[in-house]
Amino acid sequence: MDKLLIEGGAPLRGEIAISGAKNAALPILCAALLSSEPLSLSNLPQLNDISTMLRLIGQMGVSIARDGDGVTLDAAQLSNPLAPYEMVKTMRASILVLGPLVARHGEARVSLPGGCAIGARPVDQHIKGLAAMGAEIHVEHGYIHAKAKRLKGARICTDMVTVTGTENLMLAACLAEGETIIENAAREPEVVDLANCLSAMGARISGAGSDTVRIEGVESLSGAAYRIMPDRIETGTYLCAAAATGGEVRLTRTQAGSLDAIIDKLLEAGCDIQGESGAISLKAPPRLKSVSLRTAPYPAFPTDMQAQFMAINAIADGVATIRETIFENRFMHAVELMRLGADIQIDGSNATVRGVAQLEGAHVMATDLRASASLVIAGLAAQGETLVHRIYHLDRGYERIEEKLSALGARVRRVN
Ligand code: EPZ
Repeated sequence: MDKLLIEGGAPLRGEIAISGAKNAALPILCAALLSSEPLSLSNLPQLNDISTMLRLIGQMGVSIARDGDGVTLDAAQLSNPLAPYEMVKTMRASILVLGPLVARHGEARVSLPGGCAIGARPVDQHIKGLAAMGAEIHVEHGYIHAKAKRLKGARICTDMVTVTGTENLMLAACLAEGETIIENAAREPEVVDLANCLSAMGARISGAGSDTVRIEGVESLSGAAYRIMPDRIETGTYLCAAAATGGEVRLTRTQAGSLDAIIDKLLEAGCDIQGESGAISLKAPPRLKSVSLRTAPYPAFPTDMQAQFMAINAIADGVATIRETIFENRFMHAVELMRLGADIQIDGSNATVRGVAQLEGAHVMATDLRASASLVIAGLAAQGETLVHRIYHLDRGYERIEEKLSALGARVRRVN
């Protein structure tokens, strides 16, 4: 298995480009299932999760023509509305084919995504919403079987804010008969990006980005050409890496607009941040100040940046408390950070991080995507060598990470 060998202590300096957003691209790839005309996407990140999703919709009958950072999908001949366990177990976002398959094809068999390292992550809200739209759904032998001659618009209020739950129901509602209202909807920028792509395909959606999304169903959707938004979590991750190493970086092909909560915390930690159109720059202070945070749905501080900020707080001046409110087990990076010398106490969904002057390199193990990023950040800041094991987690969500880090002066290489 690949590992990442990091020689810490080098401040990150220079400029890199940010890739397209994984969590926008995944639902947008599923939007192709809704139309019999080609959907051409650009700024698609080259990630394992994207390849998995392309394989998944490809085995359903979608034709796929890749061209650099673009892809053209044609779902004219949908033949196999099945998402098998072998594929779903490697990527939970596979659940996003459920809504579009039922809406366009009238039937879907999707394996229940198992739990994952960060939590049980049930999909009951996805199922509840589709049932409200008239789908006949039963779950047996670990598969969701859903059928509907034609979905009917409904008013749905999800029990909690769910990003892919909102996205799945938006996708399904585009071809339903009548209006669907999704209340308590997720407001994430990736939900807005999906809505923008669906609108380009002829869907009639309003309110995306607010907690109430209205979708007026139409008979069919056309093809479109659409550019995926920049990845705000990749952007935040590199800002944190620069902050933790006392560096100075400029990130291009990205936007500061959807990063307010992250930028606020980096400013509070003592960083100097400049936003410009299409780019964002950060200059780190000699020593970071500890920053406490509480994760919550957008526009509050994103859970996908919690692990990265734990790494920052591990070497900051002061004591920080981190409260994780979204997932029940998203502190697995803490014990690995402690192997590098971090002083962290975990108490349920609260972590107390006392900053230390210096971390020392060690062998550490990645457990999930954002935990891996946290370990890389800590390794870059630590004195000496850090070997991060199981970096297949990283490859799911960070395109060419060692290339981008090396371009910023990091001493890092992939070993197996
Ligand atoms: C999306 O996951 C993201 N993934 C996650 O990013 C992100 O951490 C998460 O949203 C929260 O922002 C993609 O967009 C592909 P949720 P999702 O449904 O949609 C509970 C990454 O690192 N819930 O918003 O699966 C759930 O257990 C990944 O890129 C139910 O109980 O998350 C959780 O506690 C990790 N029933 C909370 O809601 C449901 O039917 C929020 O989950 C749905 C969700």
